[in-house]
Amino acid sequence: MRHTKVKDLLNSTTTLQEVNAKGWVRTFRNNQFIALNDGSTINNIQCVVDFENTADEILKRITTGAAVSVTGTLVESKGSGQKYEIQVAKLEILGDSDPEKFPMQPKKHSLEFLRENAHLRVRTNAFGAIMRIRSVLSFAVHNYFQQKGFVYVNTPIITGADAEGAGEMFQVTSLPLDNLPKNEEGNIDYKKDFFGKHTNLTVSGQLEGETFAMALGQIYTFGPTFRAENSNTSRHLAEFWMIEPEVAFNDLDDNMDLAEDFIQYVIKYALDNCGDDLKFLEGRLLEEEKSKPQAERSEMTLLEKLNFVLENNFKRVSYTEAIDILRESTPNKKKKFSYIIKEWGADLQSEHERYLVEKHFKCPVILFDYPANIKAFYMRLNEDGKTVRAMDILFPGIGEIVGGSQREERFDVLVEKMKALGIDEKELSWYLDTRRFGSATHSGFGLGFERLVLFVTGMSNIRDVIPFPRTPMNAEF
Ligand code: 4AD
Ligand code: MG
Repeated sequence: MRHTKVKDLLNSTTTLQEVNAKGWVRTFRNNQFIALNDGSTINNIQCVVDFENTADEILKRITTGAAVSVTGTLVESKGSGQKYEIQVAKLEILGDSDPEKFPMQPKKHSLEFLRENAHLRVRTNAFGAIMRIRSVLSFAVHNYFQQKGFVYVNTPIITGADAEGAGEMFQVTSLPLDNLPKNEEGNIDYKKDFFGKHTNLTVSGQLEGETFAMALGQIYTFGPTFRAENSNTSRHLAEFWMIEPEVAFNDLDDNMDLAEDFIQYVIKYALDNCGDDLKFLEGRLLEEEKSKPQAERSEMTLLEKLNFVLENNFKRVSYTEAIDILRESTPNKKKKFSYIIKEWGADLQSEHERYLVEKHFKCPVILFDYPANIKAFYMRLNEDGKTVRAMDILFPGIGEIVGGSQREERFDVLVEKMKALGIDEKELSWYLDTRRFGSATHSGFGLGFERLVLFVTGMSNIRDVIPFPRTPMNAEF
């Protein structure tokens, strides 16, 4: 007999049928009630064991974490809390789980402990829910762009280009590190390296993506990106997934419209398709917040927060306006910020971004027209000669979730900028071809997928929304 998924059993419309279910024991109560989970849903199916006619030898092996197969009749449950249960006729232990050793016992574990057991934490309710939501969100991303006729592009993971010019890259080499070949000047001879040049893991697929947008019109990437920035925060990963749409003939306003519509679509998709998991995580968050002082608790529940984002336009504010607000803010005047905002031109830290979103505007904010010298080289220079057509989207509890811009399409202006920043024109000659041949206005942005998953799940540490997080000093599993 083929086994039926727990999700389908719980949604069944007929009872009194013979069924088989396979899964892992979450709990076993009173020598009688198994809560069985198979990952298809956050909900367990209760399996009632006829303990009087089951060998003690078997009953002892029904332990948390054990894999079992149960065959029996699907009946309406007499107990409260579930609609159906399985009256077990036959039970088979597929894989034992020693209760003395299995770390995921049915009790509260700290998130820290669970991170150290990332290979097993997915067997808990919370992580099962998070990873199912993550999967649904990635499907929603593809759905959104495919429906709109965007072409999905796989940009290279290994590249010679530094798209962001921030220099925070992981080098890729096959040179022997204990015996590096040197050239005549005594420097490392990368001509002898695998690719005959210096290469690294990509920090962004944008530059390659732009070349495709200038042929296919609307494209998006969705893949892993890598940053060797040594920021041990709850918002940074060394390996994260980024979604980067790029659209020919879009200006910055079109870009903002696209980003807002896209984010609202994927959040709505999760609300429509992950109801049970979101409800569970909403409860988890309420529970977690009970231990916080009143002032630090959120004003909205998780579902309220998600609906709020759907129902309200993102507030669009220029960098210059934002600096004025921050300069006049209480935490700035009372020197509560770690970085005091003194003048126009200051780079915004996450404390400032969060003040704007959480305290001042109390809604998602799109900041645009940033000073040129705190942004990447490829952004379009405004007529004022000092700001660029950049935009960052800031979210409550997250800070920056999207970074994007209208691109500098004017060949001369772009080359000038690259010269000023010491970016090798020859290395990026292929990129400049987009401006040499049929250049046009175009725009795009990057959304950090884990930051989106953080927001949707209400978790507070980015390490908890990716299966196996990579952070400084940590590449376990
Ligand atoms: O703002 P960033 O650096 O922008 C780019 O990479 C552009 N090339 C995007 C584009 O215009 N096509 O990164 C984009 C987003 C950020 O807003 C943030 O959500 C996420 O990527 N991000 C990170 N997420 C997790 N860990 C990190 N270390 C991240 N760095 C950036
Ligand atoms: Mg950014």
